[in-house]
Amino acid sequence: MRSSHRACGKTILLGEHWVVYGTTALAVPIESIETVVDVVPGETGLHIDVSEVHRTTAERVYSTALEGLKIPNMAADWAVRVQSTIPVGEGMGSSAALGCALIQALAKASNQSLSFEKLWERVLELETVVHGAPSGLDHTVIAHGSPIAFYGPQKYDVLHWPTDCSLLLASSGQPGSTREAVENVAKWREENSDHFEQLQRTMADVIESGVASFQRGELPALGQAMNESHAALQTLGVSLPILDRLVQCALDAGALGAKLTGAGLGGAVLALVPKHCITQVTEAFQQAGAERVIPVRQEQE
Ligand code: PMV
Repeated sequence: MRSSHRACGKTILLGEHWVVYGTTALAVPIESIETVVDVVPGETGLHIDVSEVHRTTAERVYSTALEGLKIPNMAADWAVRVQSTIPVGEGMGSSAALGCALIQALAKASNQSLSFEKLWERVLELETVVHGAPSGLDHTVIAHGSPIAFYGPQKYDVLHWPTDCSLLLASSGQPGSTREAVENVAKWREENSDHFEQLQRTMADVIESGVASFQRGELPALGQAMNESHAALQTLGVSLPILDRLVQCALDAGALGAKLTGAGLGGAVLALVPKHCITQVTEAFQQAGAERVIPVRQEQE
C-alpha cells in the first residue's frame, strides 16, 4: 500500500545533557521544518531526495527499521523516498524525525497498526543506531508534536504552549555530533565528579522552576532559566565561540533569554523573544553570522 508520513523538528528549551543523568528536560516541536517519507509500491530502492548527510543516516537506519517491523521481504517491492528540510547535526531532531516518519510510513505500507508505545520503541532502536545511547527525548516530542516535560524513557507530561511565547532559532551552520558531545560530557563528569554533582543539583532546580514558568506563562523567569542553562552548558564544555556570540547578540537585541540548544559543539542557539523585538533579534543573528534563522513559534507582532 502506498503511504506517506511527516514528522516535524524539535528544539530543547531546557535540560539537554542533564537529562542523560536523570534531570527533567523541556522540549518543543518546530512545525516550520519537517521530514516526509513516502513508500511507493512498484518501484525499488531507498531514494533520499536531500543532502548526503541525510542519506548516510537513512541508509544506516533503514534495515533496522525493516527488521524492527518484521518486513524485510516485502521491501523488495517498494521504493522509499525521504525528503527533509531539517538541518542535520544542529540539534533539531533530524534523525528522530526521520525515524518517526519512516516507522509510521513503513507500518502503514505493511498494514500494521502501531500503538504509541510500539512506535516509541521502534524509533528508539533507530536513534540508538545513530546516537549510541539516546535519552528518547527527541522522538518523544516529535511523535507528540507538542511541548513535553520529559522525566525519562516513557515518563513525560504533554504541555500547552504559553501565550506570547515567541522563539527563534539561529543555526550556526556548523554541525555537531551528539555522540561526541555526550561522550565529552561523560568524560568531564568523570574528571570533575564533585563539581558535576553540585552543578547538576543547581540545574535540576533551575530547570524545574523554568518548566513551571513555561506552564504559567512567566516568560522573563523562563528566559532567566535559559540564560543559566547556557552558562552551565559552557561549563560542561559543549559551547563554541560562535554559539556564545549568537547568545550574546540575541540578549543585546532584547531577547528575554538565549542558550545553545541540543548537544552543542556546533548546532544552533534558541532565543525567547518578546514580540516587539523579533525583527531586531533576527537581524542581530544574521549580522553575527547565523546561517539561517528559523521561527520555532512566532506570535504575530
Ligand atoms: O540530538 P540533540 O543535539 O538535540 O541533543 C540531544 C540532547 C542530549 O541531551 C545531549 C542527548 C540526549 O540523548 O538527550
